[in-house]
Amino acid sequence: MKGIILAGGSGTRLYPVTLGTHKQLLPVYDKPMIYYPMSTLMMAGIRDILIISTPDALPALRRLLGDGDDLGLALSYAEQPVPRGDGDSLIIGAKHAGDEPVALVLGDNIFDGPGLPELMSQAAKDHTGCLLFGYQVPDPERFGVAEVDADGRLLSLEEKPARPKSDLAATGLYLFDADGVEFAKDLKPSWRGELEIVDVCAAYLKQDRARVVTLREPYRWFDAGTYDSLLDASRYVRLAERRSGRRVACLEEIALRMGFIDAERCYALGERLAKSDYGAHLMKVAVDAGARLHPVG
Ligand code: TTP
Repeated sequence: MKGIILAGGSGTRLYPVTLGTHKQLLPVYDKPMIYYPMSTLMMAGIRDILIISTPDALPALRRLLGDGDDLGLALSYAEQPVPRGDGDSLIIGAKHAGDEPVALVLGDNIFDGPGLPELMSQAAKDHTGCLLFGYQVPDPERFGVAEVDADGRLLSLEEKPARPKSDLAATGLYLFDADGVEFAKDLKPSWRGELEIVDVCAAYLKQDRARVVTLREPYRWFDAGTYDSLLDASRYVRLAERRSGRRVACLEEIALRMGFIDAERCYALGERLAKSDYGAHLMKVAVDAGARLHPVG
């Protein structure tokens, strides 16, 4: 399965913060926002990932993540010159996806929870049709709302409905089989003038080929696109890391645990960041996993 991170957009809800920088480069506690969606794809075992962003932001994202080789990944980059909508991701990413299924994650979406790697990789393995990830929220009218039957079949999907049929918000994580790219080619701008990924899901829904995995407590999901949700996400990550000693969305550690890199590589990556707690954590994780230390001199 191929991965796509849609990490462009304008970030207007974060003005003036995003006037001089890009949303997905902002920190969520101790790491850049884009680490989080990247970690979600990596935990699903996905290594071939296309990052789509604005012409302005791409150089900085490339500087941050490179070609992915350090993490045992193949990263590529594509421009979205104008934020035409999240459905554009499957048009820009069509060549990258080829005939394969694709996992799409929005660049400001943060997922965390026990067993997420297993849940994600299982979902990726058994996948046909379109798979959405629903999250129970107290204020569904602010989101795309999914109505689901007892077997997880999607019955309806409505964008910001006045009378929501459920409390399940559709998160910004989607798995599509090869038809997703085909459906995206037929997208027309919605009433708000954007190509909408929910319309791709609607095309699957029409054929009764859309399913929903519900993420329940203790899973956590944040869409870090507003001041408050960005701060909530940072506070959550800080607390989770302090309480448990684990790191959320630590890409090098995930690469190690997924078998993309070995302990020696993980140690070397930590050494480069050794003055930060993040780097120290990596070195410790690597040593625990059997990395041999190379004393200088
Ligand atoms: P949004 O939060 O809907 O849009 P935005 O990031 O432009 O922010 P704002 O509403 O504050 O102006 O986008 C969700 C994610 O999808 C975000 O990570 C950016 C990305 N995105 C694109 O990359 N291209 C697009 O055309 C759109 C609509 C979103």
